[in-house]
Amino acid sequence: MRIVKTINELNSLINEIKSESKTIGFVPTMGALHNGHLTLVRQCAAENDVCVVSIFVNPTQFNNKTDLEKYPRNLEKDAEMLETAGCACVFAPSADDFYSADELNNTFDFDFGGMDKVMEGKFRPGHFNGVVQVVSKLFSLVQPDKAYFGKKDFQQLAIIHRMVRLMNFKIDIIDCPIVREASGLAMSSRNERLSAAEREIAVNISRILNESRKLLPEKTPAELICWVTDEVNAISGLEVEYFEIADPVTLTTIDTWLPKSIGCIAVYCGDVRLIDNIEYCL
Ligand code: PAF
Repeated sequence: MRIVKTINELNSLINEIKSESKTIGFVPTMGALHNGHLTLVRQCAAENDVCVVSIFVNPTQFNNKTDLEKYPRNLEKDAEMLETAGCACVFAPSADDFYSADELNNTFDFDFGGMDKVMEGKFRPGHFNGVVQVVSKLFSLVQPDKAYFGKKDFQQLAIIHRMVRLMNFKIDIIDCPIVREASGLAMSSRNERLSAAEREIAVNISRILNESRKLLPEKTPAELICWVTDEVNAISGLEVEYFEIADPVTLTTIDTWLPKSIGCIAVYCGDVRLIDNIEYCL
């Protein structure tokens, strides 16, 4: 496995791969890898000649400076895990190498069609601007045939699909199912911060989301939002920040059920903010 740290080195490597007419699969990450990431990497390695993974804690998608500083960084440990999962190349640039001063000041502009203003976007202003900025730049550099994203960050994935359409990237975006612990808890780097007791409490989020499926189509989306919110808030130690039911493509909220709708939730478990989602099918 090669670890490249500069854009110049990456360019040479990508030219080499392209000159051999090999297909490239790509998994963008911010490191702090867990089994959810490794599932994407294994799928990517199985479906492409070369699997490239980026590890870059992107400063422009953090709206809180302390979160950026505190974000766990351990390239050595991440690289070991990636090698066993079949990754051929890790791109791990520094912010100074990756961005110009202008880019770092977040002058990036993208037409989100309102998708950045709902759910996560309401609570993390500017976050998706930074995500589109970094992912579009990574796509231009890595030039993958396929790129792999987890459905746990459902809003991010929906926005990436829009970005690919609007910017005409010829890349297949592969939506990968949420990887869950045996208990049902969606895997996340943040789970590390949960105490043993909090982990047991957090399991209720996916349990309640699963139960809510049984109430379709009798309850309307608005009624189901109230039901899920009340059930989660009734568990001591959990507090819902939002639960929204939306069109999975546009993320606009719905009054009546679509053949496929998405329910996205953010919940505080103690001071750890967890997200999860559920697909509702008629
Ligand atoms: O989901 C993430 O880890 C990040 O938002 C991504 C896609 C790697 C962009 O920095």
